[in-house]
Amino acid sequence: MKVRGQAVRTIEVVEEDVSVRVIDQTMLPYEFTWHTLNTSQAVADAIATMKVRGAPLIGVTGAYGVALACNEDPTDEAIERACAALIATRPTAVNLSWAINRVKEHVLAVPQMARATAAWQFANIMVTEDVTRNHTIGKHGLPLLQELLQRKSEKGLIKTLNVMTHCNAGWLATVDWGTALAPIFLAHDSGMHIHVWVSETRPRNQGLLTQWELREHGVPCTMLADNTAGHLMQRGMVDCVIVGADRVSPSGDVANKIGTYLKALSAKDNDIPFFVAAPSSTIDWKWERFDGIEIEERRGDEVRKIRGLHDGEIWGEVAEVALLDDGQPVANPAFDVTPNRLISKIITERGVAEVAGAKTFAGTFASMLDKPRQPAHALD
Ligand code: MRU
Repeated sequence: MKVRGQAVRTIEVVEEDVSVRVIDQTMLPYEFTWHTLNTSQAVADAIATMKVRGAPLIGVTGAYGVALACNEDPTDEAIERACAALIATRPTAVNLSWAINRVKEHVLAVPQMARATAAWQFANIMVTEDVTRNHTIGKHGLPLLQELLQRKSEKGLIKTLNVMTHCNAGWLATVDWGTALAPIFLAHDSGMHIHVWVSETRPRNQGLLTQWELREHGVPCTMLADNTAGHLMQRGMVDCVIVGADRVSPSGDVANKIGTYLKALSAKDNDIPFFVAAPSSTIDWKWERFDGIEIEERRGDEVRKIRGLHDGEIWGEVAEVALLDDGQPVANPAFDVTPNRLISKIITERGVAEVAGAKTFAGTFASMLDKPRQPAHALD
């Protein structure tokens, strides 16, 4: 996607076998800066502190972390140790362990002296795969939006589609395109009148990233405090909700950013389609029990404090202010799980899965995934 007219991706190899750079997302939307990663520990830190974030992007960044670990020490024990440390940084998004385990399996099968090169090549291919997957998700999601707008205009209603999203599932959360925002970017590019309700997403405020992306791309959007969502839905101001996912169960339950569940409940109560967009790498085939996954609990200070631009004497400086005293008890689970009964469809790069209930959903997924794979999935 573009930043100030320039095509940019969230992660770039600076020098093959030496370093990669990522957009520092903790500085957005205030400053657009790059952060260089040249050790596997630097990668782990960047993921843990959310300089890089979003399920698909942390997966790809983690893959480069394994490549850097192979540079540092290509023995089996050292690679196992580095992979475990990388995976431990963020436990809920399954894309991280999925990507790291893929690279690990690949490199452990080759002689030690060839491991670093093999890992860098593998990570580079994962970059290309990610871009293709997300673009394809966009192409599968676009007709759903077109159909909703068509129905709206047949009823003689305003010819603008109002889509609500939560968190950031745009290109910043992936290498490029995004998941939930990919159909929106394509809809806008096709000339459709589309407007996005952007939910702020306390406590990390990823909605600011979404609003920044949409603005850069020229898509009309409006920011709202999270608590406003239900009211807008009741007033008929939302035509559909579309979000990303950090983990999808075979029966179609979806772990995503905290607050997703409340939006899905509101959407159901108001008969509003609730779509989830995610690559097939987000499906965790081992997730059986609804409460059987680890929900990441993050630092309490993310709730006690808030960041923004200081508008006092030092205008323009990124500053943090305390909302609560240090040590005040707070809860900060980073994700929640939305049950499949609240989800209308799941859009993947392999097609759109109708969520018709737990019994049939696993079958739908399985048959979709049995479809012939695209060349970009050569590594699967
Ligand atoms: O904690 P984050 O910002 O990494 O969480 C991101 C989300 O929850 C996204 O919605 C999800 O990863 C899908 S991103 C394409």
